[in-house]
Amino acid sequence: MFLVELPAHQQAFDIRPLSAALGAEVVGLDLAAPLSDGDFARLHRAHLEHHVLVFRDQHITPAQQVAFSERWGPLQRHVLHQFALPEQPEVLIVSNIKEQGKPIGLGDAGVFWHSDLSYKDKPSLGSFLHAQELPAEGGDTLFANQHRAFEELPDALRAQVLGRRAEHSYLKQYKALQQRSPWRPDLTPEQIAAVPPAVHPVVRTHPESKRPALFVSEHFTTRVVGLPDGESEALLQRLYEHSTQARFVYRHQWRDGDLVFWDNRSVLHLAAGCPEHLRRRLYRTTIEGDAPA
Ligand code: SIN
Repeated sequence: MFLVELPAHQQAFDIRPLSAALGAEVVGLDLAAPLSDGDFARLHRAHLEHHVLVFRDQHITPAQQVAFSERWGPLQRHVLHQFALPEQPEVLIVSNIKEQGKPIGLGDAGVFWHSDLSYKDKPSLGSFLHAQELPAEGGDTLFANQHRAFEELPDALRAQVLGRRAEHSYLKQYKALQQRSPWRPDLTPEQIAAVPPAVHPVVRTHPESKRPALFVSEHFTTRVVGLPDGESEALLQRLYEHSTQARFVYRHQWRDGDLVFWDNRSVLHLAAGCPEHLRRRLYRTTIEGDAPA
């Protein structure tokens, strides 16, 4: 018996902006159904324009999330492989839930502003997060538009950063995170070896839209190359304060079925947290991007 693959049909869906800073929701699209090349091209344009897409009402399996994510590029696996979904290791479990006293996922992912995997030579193009269990209160994710942050840099600050490079390290906040979350595992020597620091431009050019964006974060950026420690720290602090101001930020309040896809080349993000006794569980996939230039 031959299985005939049916052609994907165009779906009728809307793309509606969510805030002045960034973000749009995609309503009426079913990602469990085959996605046509035309619909994919429309989503691709919308992602470049809005930086964060919220796909509403998605009831997809982890395998379907992986398949959709792979249409955007090769997937990256997180160094904390103990929190990968066993049957789908490209999926990172982001969760505060503990079973038999053990965490089932990374519970404190994103508590500092960051761009995913910026500590790699090829940081992430974008990440998907699919809601599985949501708390009745809290648990929002904030996104800050780094094109706008660059465009609105005061002239003196802009002159200080243009042409500069900065180091990013996965290990920068690791000890601080372990102090906050005692269950966060010690890294093995192999895990430490897998995350050497990387150096990237402080202002990167988006490889597709060609727009400049600030590319430093309090989670991963350790120093500005070529500056004395004190000057480097002072400059980074000013950039962190500038780049996450309210006018650049969209705050996502999660709804059941949300699948959120953000552009790590354009935005920083932050997990706002939720009361510890409330369960929160989401599945993350991360797509490899270019070496920033
Ligand atoms: C992350 O930084 O990938 C997680 C964000 C969140 O849990 O809201």
